Amino acid sequence: MTAIGQNRYSSVAMIFHWLIAIAVIANWRIAEAAHHASKADEAFWMGQHKALGITILVLSVLRLLWRFANPVPAMPNTYAKWEKALARTVHVIFYVLLIGLPIGGWLGVSMLGGSIDMWGMFTLPGLPVGEAKDTGKAIIGLHKTGGEIMIYLIALHILGALKHTFWDKDGTLYKMLPFGTVKR
Ligand code: HEM
Ligand code: HEM
Repeated sequence: MTAIGQNRYSSVAMIFHWLIAIAVIANWRIAEAAHHASKADEAFWMGQHKALGITILVLSVLRLLWRFANPVPAMPNTYAKWEKALARTVHVIFYVLLIGLPIGGWLGVSMLGGSIDMWGMFTLPGLPVGEAKDTGKAIIGLHKTGGEIMIYLIALHILGALKHTFWDKDGTLYKMLPFGTVKR
């Protein structure tokens, strides 16, 4: 009844989901830490934020490619029409932000003349856009707003998953976990 690949996500989709979820929440906390740090520590935390952000970009592109090639479980009929539409919209916005936020961050940093140190393994150069400090700052401003929107959507997404699992008792959470019973 709850065979993998039928009414729950595949193990690959689960691994991508939870790895990226942890990385995004960590990257948000790292950005906050940078924001409140002393000048010397700020550079360290921003370095971590950029390298982890690019890692999230790579994982998200792989996740999307994998998703295009592999079907995902249908939403159960117990969901109201508006719930299906809301869940789908939030999922699409997540993918847009998972790709758009790091690219925007990279673009903004490039226009400010920066590059990205990938934890000492190699340096990712700035995108070939030339220096444009004002535009760069504006893009980073948009990036911050996008990041904040993502946090609110994550809260909504978690509330939705918990509401379905513990209020409607339809086992939604277990669609993304390798145990438990998912109801159709
Ligand atoms: C999915 C990946 C990412 C997420 C979720 C994310 C999220 C955020 C958030 C929420 C902030 C606002 C922090 C605050 O003001 O307290 C921020 C700031 C920033 N991010 Fe990202 N970011 C990501 C990737 C990147 C990447 C790849 C870069 C650059 C290569 C980058 C560069 C920056 C910069 C320069 C700031 C501004 C810091 C400041 O001036 O306070 N981000 N990011
Ligand atoms: C923190 C960042 C998170 C992001 C960016 C995220 C993103 C996503 C995305 C894009 C999907 C749709 C997957 C697809 O169909 O391709 C999804 C599904 C799901 N997520 Fe998350 N998620 C996050 C955190 C969480 C957390 C903390 C929970 C648990 C409370 C959770 C529970 C679920 C569940 C149960 C599904 C399947 C929903 C369904 O198909 O009805 N997610 N998530």
